Amino acid sequence: MIDLFADVSDYCRLVIPEAHKRPIAIIGAGGIVDGAHLPAYRLAGLEVVGITDIDPERARDVAARHGIPRVYESLAELLADDRVEVVDIAVPVTHQPPIFRAAVAAGKHILAQKPFTDNPQTARELAALAAQAGVVAAVNQQMRFDEGIAAAHRMVEAGWLGTVTSFALTVNVFTDWSQWEWAKAMERLEIMVHSIHYHDAVRWFMGEPSSVYAVAGRTPGQYPVGETRTTSSYTFPDGSSALVSANHMNLGGDNSAEFRIEGTGGAIRGTLGLMYDYPNGRPDTLEVTSTVLPTDGWVPYPVTQRWFPHAFIGSMGSVLEAIATGSTPRSTVGDNVKTIELVDALYRSMGANEVVHFDR
Ligand SMILES: NC(=O)c1ccc[n+]([C@@H]2O[C@H](COP(=O)([O-])OP(=O)(O)OC[C@H]3O[C@@H](n4cnc5c(N)ncnc54)[C@H](O)[C@@H]3O)[C@@H](O)[C@H]2O)c1
Repeated sequence: MIDLFADVSDYCRLVIPEAHKRPIAIIGAGGIVDGAHLPAYRLAGLEVVGITDIDPERARDVAARHGIPRVYESLAELLADDRVEVVDIAVPVTHQPPIFRAAVAAGKHILAQKPFTDNPQTARELAALAAQAGVVAAVNQQMRFDEGIAAAHRMVEAGWLGTVTSFALTVNVFTDWSQWEWAKAMERLEIMVHSIHYHDAVRWFMGEPSSVYAVAGRTPGQYPVGETRTTSSYTFPDGSSALVSANHMNLGGDNSAEFRIEGTGGAIRGTLGLMYDYPNGRPDTLEVTSTVLPTDGWVPYPVTQRWFPHAFIGSMGSVLEAIATGSTPRSTVGDNVKTIELVDALYRSMGANEVVHFDR
């Protein structure tokens, strides 16, 4: 069993080879850059040459605390710096597309925070622009590198569960939305900025659904105008199904975030440690039972890395690897177009209170 786990842990290893490293510049000096991008890049030994923000004070503060040598006065100044090969865009969604277009025009490779746009049309436009320009462009769906999720994916790929028949993820937390002033007026909120990670993970494990149905809720007196609870169900062409349910208004103090993947030959159950105490959290848990290997009942896989900050090494690492070797990042903008289309379909389902069928 331990040798089988070694293959899984190799897959989850977050080390960036020296030969892949390229100078990075960051656009946006907000909470996620401060708390996750920069700590991850420091752990991985990456070089951040500069940063910019429309709030220059914030950029200077983050630069000083993380030892970033240069604060650019503008996006144009950043993009004109020949040293910069990769731009890391981490600003609210409405600001992302113009920055993405300018970065492509400047010939820079891109890692864009999720969601890189809020609509499928712009997603397709940006993906096509990046492809035409021949730049590497990926979306920071770093849950695909979170160890519990990545290890589960490797186990599924290796056939430990037989044929996967269901994926379920249930989150009950309290989220203080007032920390993101820009989120207050977003009518499409919970799935767009949070559960997009879970829906992207469903696609990563299960492929493209044939139909989805979603419902949403709000709580009287809540800070944002958008939905703060969602439940989404999926059907797939082969008869398998998925469920994602996220409640951000849990006042009970008993946060939970659990996932379960079932197959014809076994099952995986786990927890997302981050959500127990966001944004610090704890490592995930992961257990597997398999009649294919076989295991004798549930066996724990030892998770040693966290979603924040470790998984952020993975998303930037996969962009750097693609630049150095021509490989395909784990979450390309092209692939993420389908995640944005899925998110849009979930909102259309909620709006119409109807199942949305995909015409594939
Ligand atoms: N992948 C994840 O797990 C994760 C987690 C949190 C946030 N995010 C995403 O990261 C992005 C930033 O979130 P945050 O939590 O850091 O928000 P934040 O509000 O803490 O910071 C946003 C920063 O962007 C700056 N900014 C806004 N428009 C800009 C522009 N046009 N040019 C330069 N700077 C600009 C603001 O001044 C601010 O400093 C959002 O898109 C969010 O959805 C992703």
